[in-house]
Amino acid sequence: MKHFLNTADWSQPDLQAMIDDARAMKAAASDAPRGDALKDKTVALLFLNNSLRTRTSFDVGARQLGAHAVVLSPSGGMWPLEFEDGVVMDGEAEEHVKEAAKVLSRYCDMIGIRAFPKFQDWQEDCKDKILNAFARYADVPVINMETITHPCQEMAHVMALQERLGPLDGKKFVLTWTYHPKPLNTAVANSALMIAAKFGMQPTLLCPTEDYILDDRYIEQASKDARGHGAALTISHNVGEAYADADVVYAKSWGALPYFGNWGPEKKIRDAFKHFIVDEEKMALTNKALVSHCLPMRRNVKMTDAVFDSANCIAYDEAENRLHVQKAIMKALMS
Ligand code: CP
Repeated sequence: MKHFLNTADWSQPDLQAMIDDARAMKAAASDAPRGDALKDKTVALLFLNNSLRTRTSFDVGARQLGAHAVVLSPSGGMWPLEFEDGVVMDGEAEEHVKEAAKVLSRYCDMIGIRAFPKFQDWQEDCKDKILNAFARYADVPVINMETITHPCQEMAHVMALQERLGPLDGKKFVLTWTYHPKPLNTAVANSALMIAAKFGMQPTLLCPTEDYILDDRYIEQASKDARGHGAALTISHNVGEAYADADVVYAKSWGALPYFGNWGPEKKIRDAFKHFIVDEEKMALTNKALVSHCLPMRRNVKMTDAVFDSANCIAYDEAENRLHVQKAIMKALMS
């Protein structure tokens, strides 16, 4: 049994096979039969955080393949869960993840988990305890629907890039930090950097200061994969150098890891970098780059209307591709 927790656990050919399957399903006429690859299967979708795209695309995708989705969330009547082993459960939690995972495995064929960091202590958050607990205790495949990485998003992004660019080898990929009034999850940034390197692009991480460099494990994974393709990961704090000749610009905001739980001082730093917004002036430095964002996105804070609404923006394709790649992922896990 294999889980889909992180693309680092999967080979590039295996990921490409899922993307190829997703492309074939996307190409099929919308009124053509969609098949019954997951007929009578059931997927539990556990959301500990908000969602528009992930929730809808997994539910719709499952139904299109003949499966049934059950959406669960603590605010929707589920028992509060305990994720630590060996604790005296005399707090708010009514049920341990061990029981929840095992019982859901008796009803369902797959379990999807969305569980963001708590943003208080990165050394705790980076253990990804909730996702790993489900993977440990469930008897069915577990899918990461965004925890400290967002593998479904990165698959949809690569699919959208390949649709426009073909093979991605050697393309300059810039992951740029952008301003946001709140400190956000690093998951999409971690994933974007890893998938760019895995698919042979030349990754550049552009961020305001050293404090915004992503966790070592993702830097090391991206560096290793880049080296495997004869490329190298570049880390830059220079907007002009990073955007120069870029083929792809991917925008995301995230909170600085050293400031987890101490966000007051971090906000002072972040507020000084509002000029990292993706705008036409910066895009003019690129090689007519494609640009994207995972969404949701604050317009004219992270990216200007002019850039987001331009023909080079593939964010809607990427969002649509979530539906197709997640169908392919669920099929692969059930095959
Ligand atoms: N990109 C993404 O995962 O969107 P949601 O948070 O709306 O699911």
